[in-house]
Amino acid sequence: MRLAFFGDVVGRSGCEGLKDHLPALRRRLGLEFVAVNAENAAAGFGITESTARELFDAGADCLTLGNHSWDQKEALTYIVRESRLIRPLNYPRLSDAPGRGAQLFTTERGRHVLVVNLLGRVHMEALDCPFAAVDRELEACPLGAAADAVIVDMHAEATSEKMAMGHFCDGRASLVIGTHSHVPTADGQILPGGSAYQTDAGACADYDSVIGNQKDEPLRRFTTRISQGRFKPAEGPATVCGVYVETDDATGLARRLEPIRIGGRLAQTVPMVAEAVRA
Ligand SMILES: [Fe+2]
Ligand SMILES: [Fe+2]
Repeated sequence: MRLAFFGDVVGRSGCEGLKDHLPALRRRLGLEFVAVNAENAAAGFGITESTARELFDAGADCLTLGNHSWDQKEALTYIVRESRLIRPLNYPRLSDAPGRGAQLFTTERGRHVLVVNLLGRVHMEALDCPFAAVDRELEACPLGAAADAVIVDMHAEATSEKMAMGHFCDGRASLVIGTHSHVPTADGQILPGGSAYQTDAGACADYDSVIGNQKDEPLRRFTTRISQGRFKPAEGPATVCGVYVETDDATGLARRLEPIRIGGRLAQTVPMVAEAVRA
């Protein structure tokens, strides 16, 4: 199976970038399933129904979230109605978080893809243990049996925690992908057990920015320690950043992982693939 994951969509620039590039990427790469982290899609903070619809219309099959899940309050009710939108799995039971933290999707070809969204605990607001939470999901929906592919979005600050999650899921997921830092990392690989892994997918954002935000306010805060306004998403053309993964149809494990960077300022790369097999 050919699938792709794109990192945090930041504001209008990220949405427009994905709308400009995803339809052609889907065709060119023969993508059967596409997941996108959308925690910063609505003006840089959270997700709204109208923004989510734009991303689904552009070709996303699933949207994941993160520490900004509920910045737009309508997300609390929208997520109950929209099963393609998932939030971090590891909320404490007593928080009664709306929506789901994992979802099994069926592709147009009738294959099943499990997507799990997790929130790390290092240098972040600590939820329940993401390792215990993902362990339960992977046991309940094993790769190569109940799921033809498994994607784990580990939304976390610390590279160490993300890398540890990659190894924890190795052999049980097709792809473990980090999000949240908004910078694509150069450590994409197939782990020894067969899971594709990259510490951060990067963002779909204008990279003439500070992690997707206009530069003035972050620079002011770093240099003067005085806040004089809100962060606003940068508005130049986005680089759409993500990864392309090919899985083995029998095992669901990864055979290939390649970075995708298209549009905007970053060095461009789109994988060369054989002509897509028609669905
Ligand atoms: Fe983000
Ligand atoms: Fe985040």
